[in-house]
Amino acid sequence: MAAVNAVADLTLESDIAVLTIDSPPVNALSAKVRDALRDGFAQAIADPAAKAIVLICAGRTFIAGADIAEFGKPMTGASLPEAQLAIENSPKPVIAAIHGTALGGGFEVALVAHYRVAVPSAKFGLPEIKLGIIPGAGGTQRLPRLIGPEAALEAILSGTPFSAKQAASWGVVDAIVEEGALREGALAFARDVLAKGLPLRKVRDLDDKIAPARGKPETFAAIRKAHAKKFRGFEAWERAIQAVQDAVELPFDEGLARERKTFLELLASPQSRAQRHVFFAERQVWKIADIADTTPTLPIAKVGVIGAGTMGGGIAMNFLNAGLPVTIVETSEMALARGLSVIRKNYENTAKKGRMSAAEVETRMGLLTGVLEIGKLADCDLIIEAVFENMGVKKEIFAKLDAIAKAGAILASNTSYLDIDEIAAATKRPESVLGLHFFSPANVMKLLEVVRGDKTGKPVIATAMALAKRIGKIAALVGVCHGFVGNRMLAQRQREAQKLILEGAMPWDVDRVLYDFGLPMGPFAMSDLAGLDIGWSKETTSSSTIREILCEQDRRGQKTSAGFYDYDENRNAKPSPVVEKIILDFAAAKGINRRVIADAEILERCLYPMINEGAKILEEGKAQRASDIDIVWINGYGWPVYTGGPMFWADTLGLDKVLEALRRYEAEMGEDFRPSALLDRLVAEGKGFKDL
Ligand SMILES: NC(=O)c1ccc[n+]([C@@H]2O[C@H](COP(=O)([O-])OP(=O)(O)OC[C@H]3O[C@@H](n4cnc5c(N)ncnc54)[C@H](O)[C@@H]3O)[C@@H](O)[C@H]2O)c1
Repeated sequence: MAAVNAVADLTLESDIAVLTIDSPPVNALSAKVRDALRDGFAQAIADPAAKAIVLICAGRTFIAGADIAEFGKPMTGASLPEAQLAIENSPKPVIAAIHGTALGGGFEVALVAHYRVAVPSAKFGLPEIKLGIIPGAGGTQRLPRLIGPEAALEAILSGTPFSAKQAASWGVVDAIVEEGALREGALAFARDVLAKGLPLRKVRDLDDKIAPARGKPETFAAIRKAHAKKFRGFEAWERAIQAVQDAVELPFDEGLARERKTFLELLASPQSRAQRHVFFAERQVWKIADIADTTPTLPIAKVGVIGAGTMGGGIAMNFLNAGLPVTIVETSEMALARGLSVIRKNYENTAKKGRMSAAEVETRMGLLTGVLEIGKLADCDLIIEAVFENMGVKKEIFAKLDAIAKAGAILASNTSYLDIDEIAAATKRPESVLGLHFFSPANVMKLLEVVRGDKTGKPVIATAMALAKRIGKIAALVGVCHGFVGNRMLAQRQREAQKLILEGAMPWDVDRVLYDFGLPMGPFAMSDLAGLDIGWSKETTSSSTIREILCEQDRRGQKTSAGFYDYDENRNAKPSPVVEKIILDFAAAKGINRRVIADAEILERCLYPMINEGAKILEEGKAQRASDIDIVWINGYGWPVYTGGPMFWADTLGLDKVLEALRRYEAEMGEDFRPSALLDRLVAEGKGFKDL
């Protein structure tokens, strides 16, 4: 055995050289690993006793990807292309032996080997698209040559890892070897290559998989069309398709050079910077300053949900999906039956789309019990209340829970706005109470706001965070305040949107500006979707807002085919002349002089007060860090990932610019725009939210 450097060894197994990379935790492509590849292969090639070379990794995985910590720093050591050349140009057959996750640059290293073998549990993938870049070390050029442009783009555009089985069926790997016996399997494969005298199969020289698509731009046009909606606003995806098209149309070296150029351009782009910020933010969000990772969590084996309405049903599904039994409580047989049937229908729809088997539907429904007595929740480890948004009702329920729930059970409220401390005070165990704020539809939306009350115990918070992971959510810890982080900021945007339509804009103007910014929909389309009559009643309505007037005219949103928009039978929205007249009349009656409002003003007035509110949230310690606020908005409201979230976006704009605009609006329109002290201070110090 000979050390190549600190992270690699070269050994000879009879006539086969084995280069082992050992750079914990994931053998990422650091300068040392790149050096080890270049130098290790040079040594193996120079050794006359070695007839073939196996590349394998120690620890839990093959090279798992680039060393993201090196991004944006000056390069040292061998470049990745240099290391790859040493492998690909080896005059002796090279076999990559893969376990764990061969992702990104790691996968691109495997692609320069002449053969690949893997264990069944291995995973492969090119996740670059998720960071706003394209593979930059030949991935877009070699993978299409190996498996064809369509399959390659499936992998590149999804960015999600694929299994060894999929890899074998695509032809990414040449053999699957026994789990736990990768080294032996790879050596046997290498001996076989030598015995049969198989050629050095360089992926760069293959043509049979790309030839059929050559001169057929329609192949790529179809792929562009299929992905246009998903990637609205993103830059990298089109460049990825172009790169694969280059692979089909251009000589290898030319395509490779173009790929590298695109990769470097994208790496320096604002979108990629934003997406990398989100990548780190998603990892940071789980860390809680005063609660150690090692804090013991409470066992959660049985869950109770109170209320089988819109939220209760969706919340229950999360736990059923994770295999946890759920007991759900309602007030009447009818409400219970309706709630249960909505859940069943949801699962059946999933099954109809082929994403779940009929048996699976029954398994999940089999874990669900509907009851009418709250006392049936006595043995639940976690109980989540999702009844009407009314403090009196919630307090009554928590007092009852206090009486019936077992000692140590976690008592949670899904309230959107109410004070968790007041709810907790209805019990004699406030340390067990917290908010678990799901977003609608609760079985789909990734975000969970974990609301920490004054007295919430640390193990309770730690358990809630761990549970969120278990049910596939992304959790952000927030403090008690009106609307917590998400809805508190949303209220700013909603207020301005309402003001703007009285001052001169139309609902579709506001919606268009926010949609073009990258949000999934604007505030008025969102209201129509949710229903304008939430919290509205025939008895007390007084024509005092546009919304009330619309409800009075039975324009209650999509469900009545009319709200701020008119809807056709396919729920396509059209600007409504009726609404236009209602708004004009209402403004006239209020004596408002309407004016033309520029798109830029709409954008600033809807979004800058949100940033300002975010600053207040940070000031008050209601969120742990600015990047948590970004996570909330990206995962709870569809804020465009490629801007990095509202707080990162503000930093990108420059906080001085945001502050200047807020001051300007404050002078004209008053305190809705008064800048927070934090914003003032950061600008005075020349800092951004990222520096907090
Ligand atoms: N709808 C949303 O978008 C949304 C999003 C996040 C949070 N929330 C919050 O979730 C909670 C529930 O909202 P929703 O939209 O699901 O309301 P909903 O009206 O759809 O459902 C509430 C259900 O609770 C039942 N209920 C009322 N009192 C009960 C009691 N004492 N015991 C058992 N069941 C009882 C009702 O019969 C009803 O089925 C509210 O606090 C709301 O603010 C709603």
